[in-house]
Order: sequence, then structure tokens, then C-alpha cells
Amino acid sequence: MKKKLLAIAGSPRKGGNTDLLLAEVLRTAQGAGVDTHMLKLSELKIAPCTDCGACRKTGECVQQDDMQAVYTQLLDSYYIVIASPLYFMGVSAQLKALIDRCQALWSRRYVLKKELRAGTCQPRGMYISAAALNKGDEIFAGSIQTVKALFYTLNVEYKGEILCHGLEEKGAVKQHPELLEKVRQATLQLFADDAD
Ligand SMILES: Cc1cc2nc3c(=O)[nH]c(=O)nc-3n(C[C@H](O)[C@H](O)[C@H](O)COP(=O)(O)O)c2cc1C
Repeated sequence: MKKKLLAIAGSPRKGGNTDLLLAEVLRTAQGAGVDTHMLKLSELKIAPCTDCGACRKTGECVQQDDMQAVYTQLLDSYYIVIASPLYFMGVSAQLKALIDRCQALWSRRYVLKKELRAGTCQPRGMYISAAALNKGDEIFAGSIQTVKALFYTLNVEYKGEILCHGLEEKGAVKQHPELLEKVRQATLQLFADDAD
């Protein structure tokens, strides 16, 4: 598998804090010679899972929308970086719709016992979140569990998270070069771990 990085932008606020953090991931990846692809979820049509049960028989989702192309991206990418604002202590609705639609991949893997990818590669993933509250990391706990459950289902190794507190206004992260540097270092670490 070619080592492509898939960046998933979960915020509907264009040019917001998580978009800027994700832009740093892309810049770092491109600087390291890694191919990148960006999914802006607010520009895609991804309906919520209806629990129709069809995927338990086929491993495929019957809903024909933009998620069909996203399944391919998720399974073809060696690095997956997900960014979401914290919304009511969880991920954004746009991201949650994508995650719930991965029930089809869960069915493929755990009900139908099929491999998601050919070969034995072990893709890896990272989570970035921004929140207005300036409290401890526990405010992100629910969203971390949700993203971890997704990566577990996709058989993607969870390599950690970057949690950014006290960012309310659009672009507030620009006043925090230390957060952008943290993202840069974590992205480089994601690639460096390939030597493991
Ligand atoms: C619908 C909604 C729910 C939010 N819920 C929370 C929350 O539970 N905790 C928090 O600290 N901030 C909350 N926020 C603030 C955002 O997480 C914060 O402004 C973040 O920086 C937005 O990131 P973005 O610019 O990438 O969209 C909420 C904002 C919105 C619009």
C-alpha cells in the first residue's frame, strides 16, 4: 500500500481552528513527501446510518451517497488524521455520520469475517480536537472513545491525540503557534514510527 495520508476535516466552520490544525498536518506531510488527500465533511453528503441491517448480509451500505467514495479512501490510506471541534462533549455531527456509516465495515469484519484490506499492513491514525472550554483533557474523553472505536473497527492503530483547549473564536489557534508546532511534531512522529 502506498503511504497516503487522509485528512478528515470534521468542522462545518470553514477556516476554523481544526481546519487550521489540519492544514499544518498537510503541510508537514507534503514536506515529508507523503501524498495527501483531504475530505471536508461539510462539503459531502453523508446521511446517518438507519440501522436497516442490510450490511450485516453484504458488508456494504445500501445508501448511495458520498460515503461510498469515503469507504475506499478509508481503506486505501496508510495514515488517517481526523480533526473535529468538540460539540457537546462529542465529535461534530458530520463526523459522527461518517463514523456510524462505518457500521458497514464493522459488519464486513466482525459479522462476515472478511478482511478489510489485502495484505498485512497496519495503518495508523491520529485525532485532533479543539474546544472552547479551558478545562482538563477529560472534556475530550467521549470524543476520544468514539474516534478510537472507529480506528479499532478500521483496524487502524491509534497513535494518539492533540487536544486544544480555550479555542472559541474562528482562527483563535493562530495565536497559539505552540499548538501548530505540537501538530507538526506529532505528524512527523506518525511517519517516524514506520521505522518501528
Ligand atoms: C454546536 C456547538 C457545540 C459546542 N460544544 C462545545 C463543548 O461541548 N465544549 C467546548 O469546550 N466547546 C464547544 N463548542 C465550541 C467549539 O468546540 C470551539 O469553538 C472550536 O474551536 C470550534 O472548532 P472549529 O473552529 O474547527 O469549528 C461548541 C461549538 C458549537 C458550534
